[in-house]
Amino acid sequence: MKIAVIQGPNLNMLGVREQHIYGPMTLEQIHEQMKASAQQNGVELEFFQSNLEGEIVDRIQESLGTVDGILINPAAFSHTSIAIKDALSAVNLPTVEVHISNIYKREEYRQKSITAGASTGVITGFGPFSYHMGLIALTQIISEVKA
Ligand code: DQA
Repeated sequence: MKIAVIQGPNLNMLGVREQHIYGPMTLEQIHEQMKASAQQNGVELEFFQSNLEGEIVDRIQESLGTVDGILINPAAFSHTSIAIKDALSAVNLPTVEVHISNIYKREEYRQKSITAGASTGVITGFGPFSYHMGLIALTQIISEVKA
């Protein structure tokens, strides 16, 4: 089973940016942890991060026929990007959206995720552990689809 892990804008700054919100872990450290748990379950991960909306749309489109599911943190694009939502709808793969912070506890403009409307489910607010839970949920959904 193969999963694309797609990370949106400013997530390359984790460990530096607003540590009181996002914690001290870097994106690389989060990916290392995910790799370890994925390996135990025979899951292969492909990591991608971009600060550019169009590159994220391209990566989602490339997922069609190359991976079994998408784990995505669209970051700020969650709240603005119809293009990313449309790309997710177009490929129609099992998709889990994750957020490190609890977007419902934050500014009003973060409390709506446009992209979440194209996801199977959303996990928000558990720090880097959101990625771990997202991976477990997505692995489960893909197994059910494949069965
Ligand atoms: C985020 C929440 C977004 O509102 C924000 O723009 C991010 C990160 C999160 O993981 O908590 O960059 O997606």
